[in-house]
Amino acid sequence: MVNYHVIVAANRGPALDTKGDLSFGSGGLVSALMPAIQGRKLTWISAPSFSADSNFVPKDFDNKVADGITLETVPMDFETYIGAYDRISNETLWFLHHNLFDATYRPTFDHTWYENFETYRIYNQKFSEKIAETASEESLVLIQDYHLSLVPHYLNKLRPELKVSHFSHTPISEPGIWSMLPDEIAREIILGISKAKMGVGFHTTKWRDNFLYCTKAYGIDSPYAFSLPLGTNPEELYETRTHKDFKVFQDQFRGLCEDRQLIVRVDRLEPSKNILRGFHAYDELLSSNQELKEKVVFLALINPSRSSLDIYRQYRENIEALVSSINEKYGTPAWNPIELRIGDNRIQSMAALSLADVIFVNPVRDGLNLVAKEGPIINQRDGVLALSREAGAFAELRDSSIEVHPMDVSQSAGALYQALSLDKDERVRLSQSAKAICSSYTARNWLDDLIEITAGRQSY
Ligand code: G6P
Repeated sequence: MVNYHVIVAANRGPALDTKGDLSFGSGGLVSALMPAIQGRKLTWISAPSFSADSNFVPKDFDNKVADGITLETVPMDFETYIGAYDRISNETLWFLHHNLFDATYRPTFDHTWYENFETYRIYNQKFSEKIAETASEESLVLIQDYHLSLVPHYLNKLRPELKVSHFSHTPISEPGIWSMLPDEIAREIILGISKAKMGVGFHTTKWRDNFLYCTKAYGIDSPYAFSLPLGTNPEELYETRTHKDFKVFQDQFRGLCEDRQLIVRVDRLEPSKNILRGFHAYDELLSSNQELKEKVVFLALINPSRSSLDIYRQYRENIEALVSSINEKYGTPAWNPIELRIGDNRIQSMAALSLADVIFVNPVRDGLNLVAKEGPIINQRDGVLALSREAGAFAELRDSSIEVHPMDVSQSAGALYQALSLDKDERVRLSQSAKAICSSYTARNWLDDLIEITAGRQSY
C-alpha cells in the first residue's frame, strides 16, 4: 500500500509514559487505534489535556516524535477547552447523538450556552489552523468525532486542496431529534461535517443514513458518506492472556461464581451504556425465575468517565444505590447477586469476559460498541452475546447474538433468560459465529480502508 503522510486529528491523542514511549490509555479511540497506527508515517494532532480523568495524561507536545509517530498539540487555554469539551461536546452533542436528552430539563439554550458554543467554534478553528500549518500538499487528513464537527468547513477555507475525511465513532440522530437544537446551530454542525470532501464516515449504515437525512432536512448538499465498522485487535487481545494478572483475576472470578453461571458487562460509566436498565432487567430476571436464585452472578466492571460532569456523578450514585438494593433484596450469606467494580483495569475486564456465559451489552445507542466485538474473541466458555439492537455492532452481529431492546426492561430480562438457558449446541454455534465475525476484520484493516477512502482510491 502507498505510504501516504497521514494526519489524524482528534480531541484525545496518545501521550508518553515516563520512559518516553507512546502511551495510549485504556479505553476509547486512542487505544482502539493503537496497533493500527504503529509503524506508520503518521502525525496525530490532539488538544492539550486539562481533565483530571485518569485516562488523560497531561501533555503539551510540539513535533514530538515517539515510535515513529509525530505528536502535536493544539495551543489552547483552559476556558476554551472546557467550554468546547465539557459543555458542548459532552453535555450537548454526546446527548444529541445518543438520543439521551430528557426534554423536561434538557437541553436549554440560553446565553451561557451560546457563549460556550462560541468556545466550540474557537476550539475547532484552532484545530483547523494547526492542521493547515502541519499538512503538506500530499497529506491526508482524518478528522475524528463530534468534538471536531466544524473542522472540515474551517479547514476547507484555509487549505481547499487538502484531502479530508470526517469519521464519527458515535451514532448520529435522525432529523426529528436534531430539531431540538436551534435551527442555525444544527445546520452549522451538519454543514461543518459535510465539508469533508473525501467522505463522511460512520460505523453503520443506520447512522450514515441519519446523517444524509439531516443534510436533506437542512438543505445542505450531501457529501459522499460511507459506513465502515471499526475492527478489533485480536493479537493485542490474546496478549492480555499472557499478562501475570490475567490468571489471578480469572481465579478470583471463579471463586466468586463457583459453579454458577456468569453474566458480564464491561462499560464506561456512561448514561448511554444503559447500566441502570441493565440491573433492572436482572432484578426482573431473578424475581420471575425463582430457580435462578443462587445460580447466577452478574459481574459489572465499570470504568469511571467524565467525572467532571454532574450528570455522570449522579449516574454513578444511582448505579451504586441500585446495586445495593438488588443485593439486599436477593442476597444470601453464600451469594452476592451482583459484583460491581468501578475502576479501570483492562486485564481484569478481559479476564472477566473470558469467563462469561453471557456478555451483556445493552446501550441506549452506541456508535459501534467495541466490547461487543472484543468479548466474543477473548471468551473461552462459549459465552453468548446479548446485544442491544441500538449498538452499531448489531448490524454485523444480529445473527450471532440474542437481541436486546434497550428500553424494554422486561424484554431484556427475557433475553438474559434465553441466553442463560440455551442448549450447548446453540451456545457453541452463536459464540463461534460471533468470534469468526469479530476476528475477520481488524482495526488495522479499518485504518487502511479509511486512508484509501480519504485518498480517493476506494469507496463503499
Ligand atoms: C467513546 C466514543 C468516542 C469518543 C470517546 C470520547 O470512546 O466511542 O467516539 O471519542 O468516547 O471519550 P472521552 O472520554 O474522551 O470524552
